[in-house]
Amino acid sequence: MVNIAVLGYGTVGSGVVEVIRTNSESINKNAGHDIRIKYVLDLRDFPGDPVEEILVHDFDVILKDPEVKIVVEVMGGVEPAYTFVKKSLLAGKSVCTSNKELVAKHGPELLEIARQKDLNFLFEASVGGGIPIIRPLNSSLTADEILEITGILNGTTNYILSQMSAEGREFDEALKTAQELGYAERNPEADVEGYDACRKIAILSSLAFGDHVDYEEIYTEGISKITAADIAYAKQMGYAVKLLASSKREDENYYAMVAPFLVPPTHPLFAVNDVFNAIFVKGNVFGDVMFYGSGAGKLPTASAVVSDVVDATKHLHCNIMSFWSSRKLELTKVDKATRRFFVRVRGSADANRDKVRALYGDVDFVEAEGFSDECGFVTPAMTEADFHSKYESTEGTLNRIRLL
Ligand code: HSE
Repeated sequence: MVNIAVLGYGTVGSGVVEVIRTNSESINKNAGHDIRIKYVLDLRDFPGDPVEEILVHDFDVILKDPEVKIVVEVMGGVEPAYTFVKKSLLAGKSVCTSNKELVAKHGPELLEIARQKDLNFLFEASVGGGIPIIRPLNSSLTADEILEITGILNGTTNYILSQMSAEGREFDEALKTAQELGYAERNPEADVEGYDACRKIAILSSLAFGDHVDYEEIYTEGISKITAADIAYAKQMGYAVKLLASSKREDENYYAMVAPFLVPPTHPLFAVNDVFNAIFVKGNVFGDVMFYGSGAGKLPTASAVVSDVVDATKHLHCNIMSFWSSRKLELTKVDKATRRFFVRVRGSADANRDKVRALYGDVDFVEAEGFSDECGFVTPAMTEADFHSKYESTEGTLNRIRLL
């Protein structure tokens, strides 16, 4: 018998309890031990819920109980999660968490404590909800140099962009529906401004490249400025607008960014819609692989957390190595990255042609149906720095989106 404690009885915490109770037979078989939830920690009471029998309000009860071998942290936020997780590891308990803020900020330190104490700090659910990606990066893809990770890592924004595309809705309206469906975080800014995806790509990049990628240094742009008109142009060109979180290694340069992109139909991320997430990985030997599935939601996320509990049970006194050192990875400034850009400007293509071509070179113009007083164009490939200086000196700009 292996006793565990669950910190937080919110959406994911109640999902963890539900998954363990529903699938106990197969989970115990896979773990090689019976897993028993001894405590659930929450500040609140849940009258009438069977969890009341094991509910505690004081973390010290869990910390001081030597029978608790695994702590599941699903509270979210950095504090008090960080304090509880660190104390648990120092007290000889393995930790499984879904908390991307915690992992992105303190991952290397917590992994090092776990390594020194022959324990595990596991975080499969912190990226991509129910999609296995952390374990594959740590084990299945280790024969390769990872060259690129590009993902749709936020279900809420993918849902919003899919709704805008399918229904021609504006951003605010689609956000409201996402909130009603419970996809958005408590503070929707974390989703729509790209902060959630930024932490997730920081975690994946740190694991892929082995050194610590500081999420505060990742250029991050959200989707709140994307309009129904932008999407109409994208559709006319045969592209989809997606919020991509991407990191790339080009020789000794490492780039990372989060921003909306126009994705061509030839790219596997083009067809990833609604609340689904996908992570495209390029290695120097295996080529391309893509992981796809439910990126958010109670049960998919809980399933990933419980898979970590099974792994931690199978490796109770044996650290599963992962390569994420505390040495900081220096990112190359995004200004130096080269790509094409789509721009919308006021006025017809005829009225803009000469001055736009004089500034940007040989652009392709796009006129979308139903938009008579404006046009769009796609630039040749140029650096971000070059593009932004040209864009700032362009009159009548409406919006710009990068091309993948
Ligand atoms: N709000 C997040 C999302 C939840 O929409 O993807 C999963 O981290």
